Amino acid sequence: MMPCCACRSFDFASKLYRAKHRSIVRLWVACWLLFVPAVSAEEKPCVLYSNHRLLPANLEFEADLRETLAKSTELNAEFLVGLPTDAIPDDAIVRFKSPTLLEQYATETVVATVVFLVQAGLIAGLLFERRHRRRMKLAVYQQCCELAHASRLAVAEALTGAIAHEINQPLGAILSNADAADLLLASGADRRDELRAILADIRQDDLRASEVIRRLRALLAKQPVDWHPFDLNEAIRELEPVLRAEARRCRVALDLRLAATAPLLLGDRIQIQQVLINLALNAMDAANGLPEARRAVAVSVEHDADRLILVVRDRGPGIAPEHLPQLFDSFFSTKSQGMGLGLSITRTLVEAHGGRV
Ligand SMILES: Nc1ncnc2c1ncn2[C@@H]1O[C@H](COP(=O)(O)OP(=O)(O)OP(=O)(O)O)[C@@H](O)[C@H]1O
Ligand SMILES: [Mg+2]
Repeated sequence: MMPCCACRSFDFASKLYRAKHRSIVRLWVACWLLFVPAVSAEEKPCVLYSNHRLLPANLEFEADLRETLAKSTELNAEFLVGLPTDAIPDDAIVRFKSPTLLEQYATETVVATVVFLVQAGLIAGLLFERRHRRRMKLAVYQQCCELAHASRLAVAEALTGAIAHEINQPLGAILSNADAADLLLASGADRRDELRAILADIRQDDLRASEVIRRLRALLAKQPVDWHPFDLNEAIRELEPVLRAEARRCRVALDLRLAATAPLLLGDRIQIQQVLINLALNAMDAANGLPEARRAVAVSVEHDADRLILVVRDRGPGIAPEHLPQLFDSFFSTKSQGMGLGLSITRTLVEAHGGRV
């Protein structure tokens, strides 16, 4: 039981420290700065300065001493009160020197010193623990980034059909346009305007195909985490072709409702896109097999005063209550082909951005 209690109190102290650590440390230092000079302040001694050191034996009180000195004719002494230590003459005899607080409260001082050392140790421990936690958090985040990249590659594999379709479409259009141009040339007629229009179509289709490849490469490339403000609407629009292609393959209607004003988000654009892909793929999986009318997935961006909310809705069966506790666990999946990493990666990425799933 004891170590458990100790761990709990350490944990509590650590939470307290993290919550208000700066003010607590400041208060602690201030208390000790006030306490140490207070207990060690030296009281000024009462001094009897005698030129021949003849003194009565029972000098107990200042008044008695003064009286004795006044009456004595033999005694040639001077009575001084409140001299600072360094001003006491060498041949003076010191009496009634009041003890310093340090001498007076020796036990308390020892206890206070022990408390001070324990507190100093505790604070050093907390600082160390905080640094250790930060390092661990960073290491976990870096590992998650690696995992997130691996998962993006897996997602790419799952999306291969949709991507191939996305690239095939403009390629097919280019081929038909090239055939049409061929026929026009073979006819011998001077139809330059039509040929120009065909060439413009070919150029546009080519750009569309290379854009799909460029976006896919950006999504799959192993890039270092890159934090900067980006437009969430724009990031979603970039993903639109891939999501639409997958929606077509699953025969699901995809409804994108972006925010009216461009919502800026500070973070890694690719990681947030990955969050959307994970949630959208889950939603499409959930919509699969439903009657036509319910095969719909809606992605919307909403925002209130201080929050930006990315919502992915489907009209599938929902999540069984008994699955809720494991939903975000790695490798928890109810799908025969599922890796069970989508939601766990999603949560890590969102939390790294200071958000909540
Ligand atoms: N929109 C949803 N509707 C119903 N159940 C869902 C939904 N999203 C997730 N789940 C449940 O949560 C589980 C975990 O999802 P997660 O995305 O982590 O893994 P997965 O989709 O099974 O596999 P993958 O790693 O390929 O994404 C799913 O297997 C499913 O049971
Ligand atoms: Mg998933």
